[in-house]
Amino acid sequence: MDGSGQIECPKGFSTRAIHEGYHPADAGGALTPPVHFTSTFTFPDVESAGAAFSGEQPAHIYSRISNPTVDLLERRMASLEGAEAAVAFGSGMGAITAVFWSLVAPGDEILVDKTLYGCTYAFFNHGLAKFGVRVSHVDMTDPDAVEAALKSRPGIVYFETPANPNMRLIDIEDIALKAHAAGARVIVDNTYASPYLTRPLELGADITVHSATKYLGGHGDLIGGIACGTQEIMDEVRGCGLKDMTGAALAPFNAMLILRGLKTLGLRMREHSASAGEVARFLERHPEVSSVAWPGLQSFPQAALAARQMRLPGGMIAFELDGGKAAAIAFMNRLNLIQRAVSLGDAESLIQHPASMTHSTYTPEEQAAHGIAPGLIRLSVGLEDVEDILADLAQAFRS
Ligand SMILES: Cc1ncc(COP(=O)(O)O)c(C=O)c1O
Repeated sequence: MDGSGQIECPKGFSTRAIHEGYHPADAGGALTPPVHFTSTFTFPDVESAGAAFSGEQPAHIYSRISNPTVDLLERRMASLEGAEAAVAFGSGMGAITAVFWSLVAPGDEILVDKTLYGCTYAFFNHGLAKFGVRVSHVDMTDPDAVEAALKSRPGIVYFETPANPNMRLIDIEDIALKAHAAGARVIVDNTYASPYLTRPLELGADITVHSATKYLGGHGDLIGGIACGTQEIMDEVRGCGLKDMTGAALAPFNAMLILRGLKTLGLRMREHSASAGEVARFLERHPEVSSVAWPGLQSFPQAALAARQMRLPGGMIAFELDGGKAAAIAFMNRLNLIQRAVSLGDAESLIQHPASMTHSTYTPEEQAAHGIAPGLIRLSVGLEDVEDILADLAQAFRS
């Protein structure tokens, strides 16, 4: 312990994921932090309440704005992402929409990558666009196309890496350099990688957003989201996007579940990556498989960028079968252990068909233009014994 009563251990990722921001002495010796189930907070007098509302005296006021359990999660996530601050939300879409409602105005342009999670795509193209925000899509794997698109001076550049569902990687450092030179802020959806694999802020991004529903929570039992960035931007996101524009607050119980998930994030990501490697190599060798995208394969077109930008290749795989969409659906329907479900990053292996499920917000023409093939299969490799995952895949091919 240091003089401030905090455990002196801020070095390693997993040590911080377990200890950052809490000491048992804070709560009567309790090893794990208490959960503050409260909607509101009391004040000894009206003057103190006024000082809290004006910001003169920092204090919790109401759990839509802040709560001690949620605050601990925010401090821990900020530490893991290498950020000054974080704000937690009731969902990943809550985090994404709150950040944009806080930072854009009618007449602004945002520049977004070609491939995005379906609801993010819908928010930009059907939501923000209705309010006078111009949304331009560009293939961010193409540096010349990005340079050209930045000439119109968009205020924000936004992308996912790896991108959901087709695993394209975006070079964060390169895009951040180009975007900053053109006066744009860079926002990265870091859901697929988690801060254990990639820390976009250290590579020059300004803000990261997460669906905490996925690897951060890690157990398929909650919906949550987080944004990380500078104190100044996060204050704006909390005061505007969270408090007034979305009200998408995270429940304290779910904050506790995410705090529990974070404790094993490093351990789980190592296991997800190791198993996904075995599954990806199995798929690549299989005669009925026409393509496999996993950042750890030698055949992955951006293998060098993956090695530079990701600590490990992660647990997500995208693949296609020779027989296209019909073969993909028949194959998925024959699986027994691997569950047909959206979401990802859980202990359970999950498989889904983006064209008819997560990315059905795109029209078929948009899917074609945005790299979402009709037969593409997305697999989130879980934490079951890898032999059992491989056996399930093998029997679904054989049947
Ligand atoms: C990459 C990505 N970003 C954001 C989201 C939205 O998160 P949530 O479902 O927690 O709202 C998802 C959900 O699947 C996702 O895959």
